[in-house]
Amino acid sequence: MTDKQEPVGISRGLTNYGDFDFARYLRMSFARSMGYSTEMLARPVVGIAGTYSEFNNCHRLVPELIAAVKRGVIAAGGLPLEFPTVSLGEVFLKPTSLFFRNLMSMDTEEMLKGQPMDAVVLIGGCDKTVPAQLMGAVSANIPAIQLVTGPMMTGRWRGERLGACTDCRRFWAKYRAGELDSESIQEVEGSLSTTAGTCAVMGTASTMAAIAEALGIMLPGTAAIPAVHADRLRAAEASGVAAMRLAHDKLTPDRIITGQSVENALRVLLAIGGSTNAIIHLTAIAGRAGIKVDLQRLNELSDTTPVLVDLKPTGSYYMEDLHAAGGIGAVMRELKDLLHLDCMTVSGETLGERLEAPQPYIDRKIIHAVSAPLQPEGGLVALFGSLAPNGAILKRAAADPRLFEYEGRAVVFTSIEDMAARVDDPDLDINDDDIMVLQNAGPKSASCMPEAGYLPIPTKLARKGVKDMLRISDARMSGTAYGTIVLHVSPDAASGGPLGLVRTGDRIRLSVKERRVDLLVDADVLAQRTPGQAPPLPKRGYARLYGQEVLQAEQGCDFAFLVPEPSDP
Ligand code: FES
Repeated sequence: MTDKQEPVGISRGLTNYGDFDFARYLRMSFARSMGYSTEMLARPVVGIAGTYSEFNNCHRLVPELIAAVKRGVIAAGGLPLEFPTVSLGEVFLKPTSLFFRNLMSMDTEEMLKGQPMDAVVLIGGCDKTVPAQLMGAVSANIPAIQLVTGPMMTGRWRGERLGACTDCRRFWAKYRAGELDSESIQEVEGSLSTTAGTCAVMGTASTMAAIAEALGIMLPGTAAIPAVHADRLRAAEASGVAAMRLAHDKLTPDRIITGQSVENALRVLLAIGGSTNAIIHLTAIAGRAGIKVDLQRLNELSDTTPVLVDLKPTGSYYMEDLHAAGGIGAVMRELKDLLHLDCMTVSGETLGERLEAPQPYIDRKIIHAVSAPLQPEGGLVALFGSLAPNGAILKRAAADPRLFEYEGRAVVFTSIEDMAARVDDPDLDINDDDIMVLQNAGPKSASCMPEAGYLPIPTKLARKGVKDMLRISDARMSGTAYGTIVLHVSPDAASGGPLGLVRTGDRIRLSVKERRVDLLVDADVLAQRTPGQAPPLPKRGYARLYGQEVLQAEQGCDFAFLVPEPSDP
């Protein structure tokens, strides 16, 4: 290698000993200790960000995927080198996986920048992993391609088809209402999650996979392939081949994740009735590229994007059905007239060229035509108003339209602990026309914005058959949940936002038509009340960094110091 040649593969980014020839000689010597030939070590390197963890059931088959990616890289003339990063298994983390998303993104970014690789294949799946990997990849800005672990297959219980985790909630609600005994709920528990892979419905993981495909940072047709399907391994092999092409073309994420591709992703999010969490994650991914996701713009897009996909939690079917029905490619072909087709993708073609490929079959039960949509407007809507000056999100596709124009009495829970202690109290002062309000569950709270926005219907009302009530909080909600639930209220209560000023008995008004949620209390009354405040900053460690740096929901809950100056798309 002469000084003028750009280093390739293992020779990239040499350790600094003050003597680069020595550093290269030392690195080669150590690399050879792993048994590679000098010919292999001269090849371009494709890193594989592996996220296998026995604390992450959704990533159980990552080792198989890594093996298939390696096949692709080697076949294309490269050297694949896998490395571990943080892995986030949604239900195995406390206080909540969102708390760790930025940690994983920092880990991913620094390992991409610090290790010698010409491109990387990111293998993620469970809710926070794909956002974290994409945030890291955008910040590192080396050629990157996303591969997901894929969704679970459905299970069966007494003749009924079950999939995590919409059916988890459905059956738990029945159990709480006394319709199911403890033996039956244990049987259900064993039938909900029966294969490797991510949740089987259009939850956050599936939504983020769809968004990755829509952004163009994943191969076409690969978002919905079930985890255990042989096509998933073929997608992994093809991703390895594609990574080599990306390395050769130096096609970096800044050319793929642009203002226009982010709008394409928002369109797809709205058309699939996707998870509310995806707004936070897409905002964070775009934010790393200096692109602002504006909630007013979200509403404009929502007004002109129909819901096309009939999947749980808003519809009837599961991810394996979406794959068989034509996948996200079929959805995007339906949306073609609404998309920016010039966007570049990791396959080296524009989105328009990608969508020119014929769609051999579409199952119209699952993917509706634009001319016959499930709903004429998008699945999500942003709300503003005196209770949420900086915005809130309602998944109207999963909500009861009878509550869209609604006024009622607030029943306030001041924290998740308060809610857990009182919600099932038979003496709780609550009626089925009240509005349940949860405070101190936002990003700045001690609970770090958990998926607690799906407040349980109080047992005494559930037993009377009440299935839905208007619920409002600064929390998030699982992408697999449903109900008339206003989320991500910003500023959150712990930042001193108006949500923290609500008291039981106050009147609140929701108007989806006007995109508003208002606290109907005079300003002079509110001025007498004490606003919420953030908990004391932890003394050390990552929790301190989180407490100091985490931003609000409309800023993607990223850390302030990780976000470049925003510029409009
Ligand atoms: Fe991993 Fe649902 S728990 S995707």
